[in-house]
Amino acid sequence: MDLKKYIASIPGFPKEGIIFRDVTPILETPEAMHYVVDAFTEFAKQTGADLILGPEARGFLFGVPVALEANLPFAPVRKPGKLPRETVEETYELEYGTDKLCIHADVIKPGQKVVIIDDLLATGGTAEAIVRMVKKLGGEVVGLGFIIELDDLKGVDKFGGIPVCVLTHFE
Ligand code: PRP
Ligand code: ADE
Repeated sequence: MDLKKYIASIPGFPKEGIIFRDVTPILETPEAMHYVVDAFTEFAKQTGADLILGPEARGFLFGVPVALEANLPFAPVRKPGKLPRETVEETYELEYGTDKLCIHADVIKPGQKVVIIDDLLATGGTAEAIVRMVKKLGGEVVGLGFIIELDDLKGVDKFGGIPVCVLTHFE
C-alpha cells in the first residue's frame, strides 16, 4: 500500500520551517488502518513482546489496536500529572528546553519485553526517554514501530541495536 496517500503534509504547522506530517487520514481510512495495525502486529509478534507502550497522544491511536490484535497488554506513556498511580518519570530534550514523560510503575515487571508504538520518529527523544524508563523498571525494549521516520533527523541512531519497524519515510 502507498501509505503516503494517507499522510497529509502541512507546511508551517505548528510553526514556520516545519512540515507537519498528519496521520489522521489513516484513521479515517479503515483499509490504511488495517495495513498499519497488521504490519506492527506482525513486528510485535516477531520480537516476542509481552507489552505494548504508546506515548501521548498519537501513540495511543495506533498502540491500542496493535496490542489488541497481538493479544498483548497496552500501557500509556503520559505527560506529568495525568497518571493516577505511582509513576516512573524521565526527562528528555526538546528542540528548546526539556519535557517529562511518565508510566505507571507497576506495568513493567523485571525481564518483561516491551515494544513501543508511535506515529512518527523525529529526533528520537520521546522514544529514547521511554527506553530509559523501561530499563529503570527492569524491562527491556525489544522493538520500536513508527509509521513515519523523518530520515534527516537520524533519530534511529539513538536506539543502538534495537529493531526498528518504519512504514514510510520523509526527508
Ligand atoms: C510527536 C510524535 C512523537 C514525537 C516524535 O508527539 O507523535 O511522539 O513528537 O518526536 P521526537 O522523535 O523528536 O521525540 P508530540 O510530542 O508532538 O505530542 P502529541 O502527540 O501529544 O502532539
Ligand atoms: N513531531 C515532530 N516533528 C513532527 C512533524 N514534522 N510532523 C508531525 N509530528 C512531528
